[in-house]
Amino acid sequence: MKIMVLFDLAHAVNPDQSFSPESLKQQDKPTEASVLECLARLGHEVETLAVYDNVTAIVEKLKACAPDLVFNLTESFLHDRSHEPNIPALLDLMKVRYTGSGPDALMLCKDKALAKKVLAYHHVRLPNFVVSRQTHPLRHLRRFTYPAFVKPVGEESSDGISKASFARDESEALERVKYIHQKFNCDVLIEEYIEGRELYLSVLGNHRLTVFPPREIFFEQMPEDAPKFATYHAKWNEKYREKWGIKNGPAKELPERVPQHLEQLAKKVYRLLKIRGFGRIDVRLTPAGEVFVIEANPNPSLAEDEDFAQSAADAGVKYDALVQEILNAASA
Ligand SMILES: Nc1ncnc2c1ncn2[C@@H]1O[C@H](COP(=O)(O)OP(=O)(O)O)[C@@H](O)[C@H]1O
Ligand SMILES: [Mg+2]
Repeated sequence: MKIMVLFDLAHAVNPDQSFSPESLKQQDKPTEASVLECLARLGHEVETLAVYDNVTAIVEKLKACAPDLVFNLTESFLHDRSHEPNIPALLDLMKVRYTGSGPDALMLCKDKALAKKVLAYHHVRLPNFVVSRQTHPLRHLRRFTYPAFVKPVGEESSDGISKASFARDESEALERVKYIHQKFNCDVLIEEYIEGRELYLSVLGNHRLTVFPPREIFFEQMPEDAPKFATYHAKWNEKYREKWGIKNGPAKELPERVPQHLEQLAKKVYRLLKIRGFGRIDVRLTPAGEVFVIEANPNPSLAEDEDFAQSAADAGVKYDALVQEILNAASA
């Protein structure tokens, strides 16, 4: 197939510039590099297009190249994540096939509060929550139970998540709410903090879904009584991960019946939020064996060392086969 790999850059770029896996690695784009190498191994004819702010360039280049399919790796436009859904929306208007989720799933999941409302309607178990709006910041949190967890409504990759996201009382929570409003200029979610193990459920497909074996994040060197969650440093800072023994790996043994429940739950959430192609549902399992959904990720990272690809590998699905499956599931 003739495939165009579409991805975003944080600066303006000439639409005619093409990228090799090496140049992408140098620009700190390991996922794009892996996908490019993989598509070449699979025997596809590959072109690249980097986007920053130029819509016309996307339209013109797609017309000129007429690819069979776009491999959509964009996560933002004009350095703004809230535009992520608009790229597949444009591809829909141009009747171009693309991998991964459409604008509907991206829009639903990017607003974590909205996604939670949809899931709550369908009786999916979630942490209780309130929203503090940017235009009307909350001044009190009446009857909220603590500890609470405070996060931006529309960020990803643990942006805005630090130790201070964990709030033991109303004043700590409100302080963090104020900080997030100021720093991210967005609505803020205050959630019930769910103590427990954190599991990642990777799902592949459209109608018939495959759920790969759960992955787990481990905090091996952290004090027993410290709250453990995936802060920005815990996810991305290798030194910090080493210091606190933070590792992602196949989930350790799970209580009876929990694996079946996780599989059904992952499929249910995936379908309710209209995710397509591939997605990752993040949950927490309490010591009492209850599962709470934390968030759903359409178009999760496809880096070879990240949980989605690793979860497929745990099931014996190698990276190339996984990428080919994602191509097969591309929108019609
Ligand atoms: N309600 C919660 N209770 C406990 N931990 C939470 C809660 N919400 C988020 N977290 C922790 O914060 C991390 C990041 O939150 P998440 O909503 O997944 O944001 P992101 O989109 O940045 O990944 C989670 O992986 C989890 O460790
Ligand atoms: Mg997450």
